[in-house]
Amino acid sequence: MRLIITNSYEEMSVAAAKIFAGQIYLKPDSVLGMATGSTPLGLYKKLIAVHETIGLDFSEIISFNLDEYIGLEPENPQSYHYFMHKNFFDRINIKSENVYIPDGMAADMVAEGTRYDALIESRGGIDLQVLGIGQNAHIGFNEPDIKFEATTHRVRLDEETIQANARFFTDEQEVPRYAISMGIKNIMLAKKVVLLANGKNKAEAICKAVCGGVSPAAPASILQLHRDVTVIVDHDAAALLPQAVKAPC
Ligand code: PGA
Repeated sequence: MRLIITNSYEEMSVAAAKIFAGQIYLKPDSVLGMATGSTPLGLYKKLIAVHETIGLDFSEIISFNLDEYIGLEPENPQSYHYFMHKNFFDRINIKSENVYIPDGMAADMVAEGTRYDALIESRGGIDLQVLGIGQNAHIGFNEPDIKFEATTHRVRLDEETIQANARFFTDEQEVPRYAISMGIKNIMLAKKVVLLANGKNKAEAICKAVCGGVSPAAPASILQLHRDVTVIVDHDAAALLPQAVKAPC
């Protein structure tokens, strides 16, 4: 696990954008794993800027999103379909047929999970996956006590996650209680992973992810067993890491 501690959200986003831009430049048909939430927004803005200024080309890029709420239509402004198109896909030259997001309206979520896993495999697997992290150390919507061997599946959101995500809705009651998410196995099969976190409210989760024991109680801790993970955080999110871990940074 490589740890990069930056001075700000801006610097964190730039560091992540360098990794993504390098990947896209060196392998123009890369399969990227995308995430939603506030954390990767800066990364997406930087990549849009590189696309607009020096023509970073997404025309052969394939992307798979981690998750989607169950019960929200793609046109719903709270859906992750909407989020990704507004904040990223509509502003780069990715082809619509190369964009994959789990279908939160599917009638059969087991079948949808199987379909999504097969699509990832048919596209050759994920080359580079970006992750945010929940305050409860979830990655994707893999909440504490998830099975590490899970692939794409229906999940019930934790109370903590519902409260954290309520800020995107007018009322907490509107936050869907269920989602469909890639599983830990999908994430662990990605060739490279970049985990981003900023802010004091992520410090405990980052501590568990980077140097706590590997346990389903802290899903992100499994990343310690992945062979190519870069964790990029700001000082606030790194605040609880032991000095020995921070030293090389
Ligand atoms: P955030 O969410 O980026 O909005 O903090 C991260 C997550 O819950 O995975």
